[in-house]
Amino acid sequence: MQIILFGPPGCGKGTQASFIAGALSIPHLSTGDMLRSAVSAKSEIGLKAKEIMESGGLVSDEIVLSIVKERISNNDSKKGFILDGFPRTINQAEGLDLLLNKSQKIDFVLRIKVDEEDIIKRLIARGRSDDKPEIIKNRFKSYNSETQPLIPFYEEKKILFNIDGMQEVEKVFIDIKKVIGV
Ligand code: AP5
Ligand code: MG
Repeated sequence: MQIILFGPPGCGKGTQASFIAGALSIPHLSTGDMLRSAVSAKSEIGLKAKEIMESGGLVSDEIVLSIVKERISNNDSKKGFILDGFPRTINQAEGLDLLLNKSQKIDFVLRIKVDEEDIIKRLIARGRSDDKPEIIKNRFKSYNSETQPLIPFYEEKKILFNIDGMQEVEKVFIDIKKVIGV
């Protein structure tokens, strides 16, 4: 099964992706986590991504597509995967389609819907290095301008499913399981 977890900063993509990964025994691929590792390792990609991530902007499609390409060609991704935080632009979504082979089509795009005001509180409470009010504001701005256009893109393909992300974590997961049929 190939699943995309979609939604604004802090909506619960990472939390739910790890639950699904556990339930289905398929890898959880988070471009945010991959980029944070690259930044810690001070790799070439990490050096390019660092400032952009610290400002709440989007890392270039070219960089992100290159790390996803490498990761989904891994053996463990052959039986499926969960993408968390990718694609985030139309260009990335089109790039993804080109990377996938026939047996890897995307089954579900799970859009986790939340209220922005409540999420800002959630993120500040978590305290990751980009969970500062100014940066959170920019992360939402990037989401609204560049990522939201993916909603009609996936609606047209009839694979977009809305999930109420304002419920308790366990309840969100129950709703997800209903949609994906596990
Ligand atoms: P990324 O790491 O993807 O960050 P994000 O999209 O801002 O989302 P978060 O990871 O903050 O939140 P989440 O939705 O995973 O929620 P979580 O489960 O953690 O990206 C970081 C940066 O990397 C970007 O800004 C960009 O610069 C770059 N980047 C990444 N991917 C990119 C791409 N494809 N293209 C370009 N640039 C890219 O939950 C958040 C908190 O809420 C946690 O504390 C959690 O415990 C809590 N929580 C979760 N669910 C609930 C619930 N139901 N009720 C109460 N609390 C909850
Ligand atoms: Mg996350």
